[in-house]
Amino acid sequence: MQKKNVAVVGATGYTGMELIRVLSTHPGFEIGAVTSRSEAGKTLQELFPYMQGTKSGSIAVTFPDPELVARDCKTVFLAVPHGAAMDMAAAFLDQKARVVDLSADFRLRDAAEYSAWYGLEHSRKTWLKEAVYGLPEIYRDRIAGANLVANPGCYPSSVILALYPGLKHKIFDPEGIIADSKSGTSGAGRVAKTGTLFCEVTDSFRAYSLGSHRHTPEMEQELSLASGRDMRISFSPHLVPMNRGILSTCYVTLNSRMQTQEIRRIYRDFYQDTPWVRIMPEKVLPETRWVRGTMFCDLGFVRDQRTGRLIIVSCIDNLCRGASGQAVANANLMSGYDLDLGLDAAPLMP
Ligand SMILES: NC(=O)c1ccc[n+]([C@@H]2O[C@H](COP(=O)([O-])OP(=O)(O)OC[C@H]3O[C@@H](n4cnc5c(N)ncnc54)[C@H](OP(=O)(O)O)[C@@H]3O)[C@@H](O)[C@H]2O)c1
Repeated sequence: MQKKNVAVVGATGYTGMELIRVLSTHPGFEIGAVTSRSEAGKTLQELFPYMQGTKSGSIAVTFPDPELVARDCKTVFLAVPHGAAMDMAAAFLDQKARVVDLSADFRLRDAAEYSAWYGLEHSRKTWLKEAVYGLPEIYRDRIAGANLVANPGCYPSSVILALYPGLKHKIFDPEGIIADSKSGTSGAGRVAKTGTLFCEVTDSFRAYSLGSHRHTPEMEQELSLASGRDMRISFSPHLVPMNRGILSTCYVTLNSRMQTQEIRRIYRDFYQDTPWVRIMPEKVLPETRWVRGTMFCDLGFVRDQRTGRLIIVSCIDNLCRGASGQAVANANLMSGYDLDLGLDAAPLMP
């Protein structure tokens, strides 16, 4: 197979590092460029000693110059903060490169909604119209033809995969849904912040951004499309003292007395043409370690007989399924490869 050169912009962050991990063994992609503003000039193994002796360790980090990078790399992963990504994406697209943006800059279709939640004016509204939301289970065909893919957020990946089929099949009420999510600390990125210091996170557990987290409108946008009506959900994120992983517990009210066996069948049918959503058997609830380092999204179902509610537990790895692995899946589709090429890693157990 002739490998295609790809670039990782923002290679020194957690999602950039995860992209390098996944791409290093990918049969269809070669890492042609890795960039960082602060670490340009060093090799990856100088920055990350764990990469000594690996195939990608000797790659030199360069400054993120779209014109230079796009000369050799026509597929670019943007693993940079929101706000920075929009102009950078446009610069790469102008150089005829295809872009998978891991930030939030192209996820919300409505620029006013973006401004309201992110406190920024969207400077690339024309590209915003062209961006395809990169959840392969739902937008596979559109992703394949896209020049710009907005890779979903980590929390939205876990919540949308848990709720989409049930809303589409009207199994439960779109009103009153609660998504209670817990994330490992790598979700906050690698930049030093007091709130993610070891002593602030370890041996403790806290909620944050209740009722105001920026991933809420992204979930509502996609779930509204599934249910066919404008939806609001209550989203409650929590920070847990682990490195990787998201566990979302979603509470919905069933429209009928449907049992979990039938619900699991409907979900299995919905996801049958895609490789990564695993419907857990009766009485088995997912754990974050079962998906660590993988593209799996594990779903478990419990019917609360007393309240008539269905409880759906969804687990993903925030860095792989919730960011970089999903970005590579999207690049696979954009390159004409099989969706799961290079993405069949087994979970890192225990
Ligand atoms: N962490 C997750 O679990 C996760 C999941 C889904 C999506 N995301 C999204 O993915 C993106 C990257 O997240 P992360 O966690 O990897 O962040 P991070 O650890 O903070 O890394 C950010 C990277 O971007 C570079 N960068 C920062 N500002 C830049 C700018 N203005 N222009 C160019 N490069 C810049 C940084 O290197 P230099 O400063 O040296 O240039 C660094 O390599 C974010 O938009 C985030 O919201 C993250």
